[in-house]
Amino acid sequence: MQQIDAILAHLDRENISLLPTPFYRMNTLSELLERNIYIKRDDLTGFAFGGNKTRKFDFLIADALGKGCDTIVGIGANQSNFCRILSGVGAKYGLAVHLILNGTEPKNPTGNLLLDHLFGANVHHIDTTDPAERFEKAIEIRKQLEYTGRRVYFLPPGGSTTIGTMGYIAGWGELMDDFENQQLKVDKIFHASSSAGTQAGLVAGQAITGWQGQIIGISVDVPEMELEKNVFDLAQSAGDFLNVQIPRSIVTVDDHYIGAGYGKRTEAAAEAIELFAQKEGVLLDYVYTGKAASGLIDYCRSGRIKPDETVVFLHTGGNIQLFE
Ligand SMILES: Cc1ncc(COP(=O)(O)O)c(C=O)c1O
Repeated sequence: MQQIDAILAHLDRENISLLPTPFYRMNTLSELLERNIYIKRDDLTGFAFGGNKTRKFDFLIADALGKGCDTIVGIGANQSNFCRILSGVGAKYGLAVHLILNGTEPKNPTGNLLLDHLFGANVHHIDTTDPAERFEKAIEIRKQLEYTGRRVYFLPPGGSTTIGTMGYIAGWGELMDDFENQQLKVDKIFHASSSAGTQAGLVAGQAITGWQGQIIGISVDVPEMELEKNVFDLAQSAGDFLNVQIPRSIVTVDDHYIGAGYGKRTEAAAEAIELFAQKEGVLLDYVYTGKAASGLIDYCRSGRIKPDETVVFLHTGGNIQLFE
């Protein structure tokens, strides 16, 4: 979309994502739930098994290279999709990667962690679920690396920085093109939300283009009010960078589908995963997209999506988790 392309034109960008991703109507699921349901396949962004993080890294790696960095330090869980993409990007561009992962070191790494090792990342396990402790450890490792002369690019969980947010502002432009190409009036967009970067980019894109529908971030871990604030703050910091005002009222988060917490399976997510697999051949995961899809299904069944409405499920990837 020209309006979005123009606003991002001055930013450095590496095209690691294979774009545009497919966008189509899920016919069987639409019939079953009696709603018009489309899917944006950002699980197919290609690089290192894809997902939403590659869009962030299109901008993050360009920023890191522009700053002359030779090392990236990132934070996540053992099965972090973000850390998988970060490890692949480091490998491709020849930057050392240090991951600070919470969770004990498994004897046999699987899923994302297996791939982190394959990409040659340096993995530091820290046996705590306390984000503050993990952050402290990351800062300590960063200092050690800088002491030995490395130029470090430091990334918070999910790569959700102002620059990382540009990924989904660009992604928003692509979505607007999809809607226009199919002459589609979309009412609601659903996606999994956690470290705020994906939703902040979408919301900033909405503010730039004046789109009239609703973006609903289904939280997979953070309470509603807290995540709404995180999304708004990050969207506004991206907005400040691009000279755009973000209205607080367009940030909507729903935290009713988290269950017992991050990574804890819910029955509703398990049903959503089966439905998407068995009716559409689309693979979701238990941590992110299964919960987001369970929200969408519940909104359809409870009438919060009306029969004449059109909805889009933004598939953010993460299905490597099925091989955990
Ligand atoms: C598969 C998947 N979906 C959604 C999200 C949420 O995106 P964000 O952290 O940008 O809110 C993540 C990462 O946290 C993810 O890995």
